[in-house]
Amino acid sequence: MPIPTTPYIWFNGKLVPWEKATVHVLAHALHYGSSVFEGIRAYATPGGVAIFRLQDHIRRLFDSAKIYRMQLPFSPDQLSTACCQVIAANELVRGAYIRPIALRGYGEIGVAPKVDPPVEVAIAAWEWGKYLGHESEANGVDVCVSSWQRVAPNTIPALAKAGGNYLSGQLISQEAKRLGFDEGIGLAPDGTVSEGAGENLFVIKDGILLTPGLAHSILGGITRATVIQLAREQGFTVREAAIPRELLYIADELFFTGTAVEVTPIRSVDRIPVAAGKRGPITERLQQAFFGLFSGATADRWGWLEYVDMQLKTRTAVAR
Ligand SMILES: Cc1ncc(COP(=O)(O)O)c(C=O)c1O
Repeated sequence: MPIPTTPYIWFNGKLVPWEKATVHVLAHALHYGSSVFEGIRAYATPGGVAIFRLQDHIRRLFDSAKIYRMQLPFSPDQLSTACCQVIAANELVRGAYIRPIALRGYGEIGVAPKVDPPVEVAIAAWEWGKYLGHESEANGVDVCVSSWQRVAPNTIPALAKAGGNYLSGQLISQEAKRLGFDEGIGLAPDGTVSEGAGENLFVIKDGILLTPGLAHSILGGITRATVIQLAREQGFTVREAAIPRELLYIADELFFTGTAVEVTPIRSVDRIPVAAGKRGPITERLQQAFFGLFSGATADRWGWLEYVDMQLKTRTAVAR
């Protein structure tokens, strides 16, 4: 699906028309994958449009940049305000997907030049529905274990949400789709389960939730952290664990988490049905708790919803 365009993108400190937010073809990031980015959702809630866990996403953006020694020319506060501004300026009252990106731009062509190329920062937002299709929320998705593994520790850091990491994601997801699956799961270099191409994974066995730990080549997902918290609040035991591949085949329930997929049940792995081959009761309960945050049914006791002042569009843009 093509990206639905909006009037404005925040680019290096100002709102510019969508088509003007461009970088040079010799930008470092295009050649060497040196960008860091986020995917954030804003929801239409009874209290107005709210961005979900904005501060946590911005912190992860800065953490990703830190791992690559990339200096962002804006503060976390400036970028948080800019995310709100993009929503307001584009009047995204029905909610949105927000994509902030910081990249090493046009400078020298070397992989590690003496003078670091200028860092460009952009934030776009647009209205966006379900990543894996509308029915997937209730019916679940069919996935496979990929022939491609996730990155090994000491190669490319999985905890950084960097552009280059998504070469791995592309191989995993493309292979899965080519073979007729909705998504692919990558194994960690030790053969245990890591995560989906762009999603974290939870296994439910005998009423206990298991999810791979941070050392299993995963991105530390913000939805993952949310679901861990919500599940524990509901009295479930949640453990970070090394998960053998075959546990996927004999699990009682499986689901993905992620900003894009939210909480999506998995109904089969490698054509083996997960239990009865449909969404399980614990997954459904956790979905209710998660989506309840946006309908008001789940009280936001953590301050995860950041309400957007839709008047922001009339104020001056954040200056560089
Ligand atoms: C590789 C990968 N794993 C997991 C996730 C889920 O993370 P989050 O819940 O923060 O969106 C994402 C999405 O950002 C991802 O790209």
